[in-house]
Amino acid sequence: MESKSALVTGGAGFIGSHVADRLLAAGYAVTIIDNLSSGRRENLPAAARFVEADITSPEAAAVVRDGGFDVMCHLAAQIDVRRSVEDPAFDAHVNILGTLNLMEAIRTASPHTRVIFSSTGGALYGSFAEPPSGELVPKDPEAPYGIAKLAVEYYLAYYGRVHGIDTVALRYGNVYGPRQDPHGEAGVVAIFCNRLIDGRALTVYGDGTQTRDYVYAGDVAAANVLAASVTLPEPGRLDARAFNIGTGVETSVNALAESLKRAAGSTSALEYAPARAGELQRSALDVSKSKGELGWTPSVSIDDGLAETFRWFSAFRAGARA
Ligand SMILES: NC(=O)c1ccc[n+]([C@@H]2O[C@H](COP(=O)([O-])OP(=O)(O)OC[C@H]3O[C@@H](n4cnc5c(N)ncnc54)[C@H](O)[C@@H]3O)[C@@H](O)[C@H]2O)c1
Repeated sequence: MESKSALVTGGAGFIGSHVADRLLAAGYAVTIIDNLSSGRRENLPAAARFVEADITSPEAAAVVRDGGFDVMCHLAAQIDVRRSVEDPAFDAHVNILGTLNLMEAIRTASPHTRVIFSSTGGALYGSFAEPPSGELVPKDPEAPYGIAKLAVEYYLAYYGRVHGIDTVALRYGNVYGPRQDPHGEAGVVAIFCNRLIDGRALTVYGDGTQTRDYVYAGDVAAANVLAASVTLPEPGRLDARAFNIGTGVETSVNALAESLKRAAGSTSALEYAPARAGELQRSALDVSKSKGELGWTPSVSIDDGLAETFRWFSAFRAGARA
């Protein structure tokens, strides 16, 4: 039987490389598009075909048009929330226009391709409701990064309704794990790991009671693979094809720091600094829809995931010094 084919944009990055690994393991022929702006060649799985291209370019659109892929996992993005505040036009250029470049290629030349978009739960929902937030709570993105993700979700719902394109939005919590870098939404895990390795104190902004929903990268990759093949209801309005990918568990920065210190066997101190303006106090995602409709459930506990992540950073840093 001929294998299914997948395009992974951003496949040289942190989460995208895990998605590519899992798709290959599930038997997909995988092509990766990445401009290596934050991704690394070392993250690319050897069995994948790699095209170095920018998602805003005609070259990337041609890869989509010519590939006839069964699925496109779209992860390439400007991921730095603070950069989106400093330069919202750049953020929109990559995250909105780059996505439209790929979507138009699908609409015109590959309309059977299922699109799985990496959206955000952490930066999309406001603080209206008590966590955990379900997919239907009002959206109130704090920064241009979340605004762009929400805009793309509206476009995807439009492509579904009007053009019959099969689209899915996975709204991740704060994703952590091996290969992560400090700039993403769960950057604190990478920053703490590096500080523990260097024997330095961990800086906590505010009193450390603010919570996030930390989800392990391997679990996020598994959600992409399930979303690639599961039978879903007809596309509809915003939220119809959106799924929270988190754990439903709130973890405070203090608890995160203590768990990592245990994993590292470290006695590093916690240093408290003034809270950052505009930071949400609490965030967690209700994942019952993903469990019911995707058949997905997070499998890695925060303590096990942090220990694995710390081990990876230790090995990476040792290798980097060698
Ligand atoms: N890390 C998180 O906690 C988190 C949470 C919610 C959503 N997401 C989303 O998941 C996706 C992957 O994030 P990540 O944390 O792995 O970040 P990452 O920076 O490691 O991965 C992004 C990848 O996209 C590539 N890229 C960036 N701009 C590009 C462009 N114009 N053309 C082609 N490639 C480009 C980068 O080189 C990189 O390899 C993003 O869409 C991000 O918004 C991440």
